[in-house]
Amino acid sequence: MTDRSLELLALTRRALVHYRNRTTDQADGIMSMPVAAYTDPERYEREVDRVFRHLPLAMALSLELPEPGSYLAIDQLNAPVLLVRGEDGTVRAFLNACRHRGAPVCKPGTGNARVFACPYHAWTYNTQGELVGRYRGETFGDVDESVLGLTSLSCAERSGLIWVTLSPDEAFDVDEWLGPFQAELDTLDLTNWHIYEQREILGPGWKVTMDGYLEVYHHDSVHGKTVGEHTIGNLLVHDTYGPHQRMVFGRRSLGALADRAESDWNPGQDIRLIHSGFPNLSISGILGDHCLVSHIFPGPTIDTTLTRQTVLAAKPPVTPEEEKATATFSAMVLQAVRDEDYAMGFRIQAGLRSGANTEFLYGRNEPAVQNYHRWISRFVN
Ligand code: FES
Ligand SMILES: [Fe+2]
Repeated sequence: MTDRSLELLALTRRALVHYRNRTTDQADGIMSMPVAAYTDPERYEREVDRVFRHLPLAMALSLELPEPGSYLAIDQLNAPVLLVRGEDGTVRAFLNACRHRGAPVCKPGTGNARVFACPYHAWTYNTQGELVGRYRGETFGDVDESVLGLTSLSCAERSGLIWVTLSPDEAFDVDEWLGPFQAELDTLDLTNWHIYEQREILGPGWKVTMDGYLEVYHHDSVHGKTVGEHTIGNLLVHDTYGPHQRMVFGRRSLGALADRAESDWNPGQDIRLIHSGFPNLSISGILGDHCLVSHIFPGPTIDTTLTRQTVLAAKPPVTPEEEKATATFSAMVLQAVRDEDYAMGFRIQAGLRSGANTEFLYGRNEPAVQNYHRWISRFVN
């Protein structure tokens, strides 16, 4: 058996113990958090600045930039970002703003280009961000073109994900940042999936949104007709990797394992793994051949987030049955996130300032929510 199979077997065992005992992994105690942590605009600005503008964020999947010249232009947190895979295969990140007078050199979206021509006065940049042409440069006057390349952002590609820091010239060591979580992410083999669908979803505020990604306590009540049909509510196997986390849920088939010899178990078949990369990434393997990747960013206001939701299939659907299975998965996760999680979140968000609560509680059965909020405090204070 491979190391991975042994690991999945061990996780299944842990989940099954909880299933039998009607228990779950727990934090040491209940944690409380002032509601001001969700509503205070100054605190929000400080935390978003520290967490989202100075830490490495998962910006995109390697799959979104499949070949030299592939690019993705996306505006996040008031930063126009341009990711480009260069001729040398390396992905680089830039601020998508011309060095002449700031026009975006690439329209938002994806595509393939060898050169980015600014739409304002037609300066051109190559895939490495270097300024390679200035329209009628002899009339403009002499400048040192070598220092007028697009402004770089720290960028690294690991585990099938592109990690970027949004503050220019702020370096980071992605291996240190991910630590042992990198080996965990590697097991997902994210470079070998097929992108089936992508969409952007408007969600409630940052913390209300993230809380919903980090516990299984709500699955029976909120997701009874969607993802909750496949998972056992309130059963969590939880591991942390510093700020990053792995959550394991039990699938509905888990209980049947109790009657079968371990040698008959199919490792991983009866559990569902969710990998949560601090502060904005969730990768959820809900069913074996399908995976949901969510990149979550604070939106234009304190009350909103923007989620880039990507539906992955193990391989491109070919037969009508495969197409139907993938379409069904995609529709289900859209419904679960937009119509269930985020709909609930918007209702919570609407009442946050009502004075109903001065504190929120994170239960012992919500250890991943607790860990997330503890790490926000560590990074901010
Ligand atoms: S702003 Fe880009 S060429 Fe002038
Ligand atoms: Fe949910």
